[in-house]
Amino acid sequence: MELQNKVAVVTGGASGLGRAACDQLAAAGVKVAIFDLNEELAQEAVQALGPDKVRYQRVDVSDEQSVATAIADTVDVFGAIHLCVNCAGIGSAGKVLNRDNEPLPLAAFEKTLAVNLTGTFNVARLAAAQMAKNPPQGEAGERGVIINTASIAAYEGQMGQCAYAASKGGIVGLTLPMARDLATLGIRVNTIAPGIMGTPLMRAAPQQVQDNLVAAIQFPKRMGLPAEFGSLVVHIASNTYLNGETLRLDGGIRMQAR
Ligand SMILES: NC(=O)c1ccc[n+]([C@@H]2O[C@H](COP(=O)([O-])OP(=O)(O)OC[C@H]3O[C@@H](n4cnc5c(N)ncnc54)[C@H](O)[C@@H]3O)[C@@H](O)[C@H]2O)c1
Repeated sequence: MELQNKVAVVTGGASGLGRAACDQLAAAGVKVAIFDLNEELAQEAVQALGPDKVRYQRVDVSDEQSVATAIADTVDVFGAIHLCVNCAGIGSAGKVLNRDNEPLPLAAFEKTLAVNLTGTFNVARLAAAQMAKNPPQGEAGERGVIINTASIAAYEGQMGQCAYAASKGGIVGLTLPMARDLATLGIRVNTIAPGIMGTPLMRAAPQQVQDNLVAAIQFPKRMGLPAEFGSLVVHIASNTYLNGETLRLDGGIRMQAR
């Protein structure tokens, strides 16, 4: 899709990978609506990128009404939605049984699924309903592009990652059927599965933990840069032949059991 003057919704756009996607989409001439819970960081992005091009709406992606209201507001202000980039997500850790062999509270599992998996589907479905109203663009007749964020934990979940890995595996699983459902409308769906990315969250981990993770990366021997995620978002949005696929962005890492 030609990106100039298009409109993107970026969930989780206030921080980390989502913020990098906002930066690079805005640089490509896209108007961006940030859907996030973190108002302070989101406002920083709006100020840095320009309030005429980037807006913020306080949204909980797992809440149907919250997303529906923000989608309608985005269309009111920017006129349409062409791109949906789902980056909002939460980490979670907890083994099936703790040290005393007590089971993980079901609420902890459900919360991770609600934000990461249900939240991704919720925003994608409501954005797709708007994309369906767009006139077809270009030779292929594209109406929209949806880009989700999974994780390598979808394939190689670690100890204590049942909930997180299940939520990300669900995103990988819905990618192809969603692309099939929306194909006749000219809406493409792809997912990025990042590896160890140098977001503030990851850089806050103890140095030893960071060093151990980096040691397992094939090449280059460093964390991925948020900007490398942002440029892949722009590439997927621009490359009309990419569809129904999950792309690992991970320096070749394949996590082993600890
Ligand atoms: N950083 C990594 O190494 C890495 C690796 C693999 C996958 N991921 C995935 O990439 C995505 C972004 O990760 P990040 O490292 O940039 O994290 P981050 O914490 O920096 O950003 C996540 C953003 O999502 C927002 N958010 C959380 N819950 C929300 C909700 N219910 N509704 C709306 N917004 C909400 C947060 O406020 C935050 O701004 C996540 O889905 C994460 O699972 C990250």
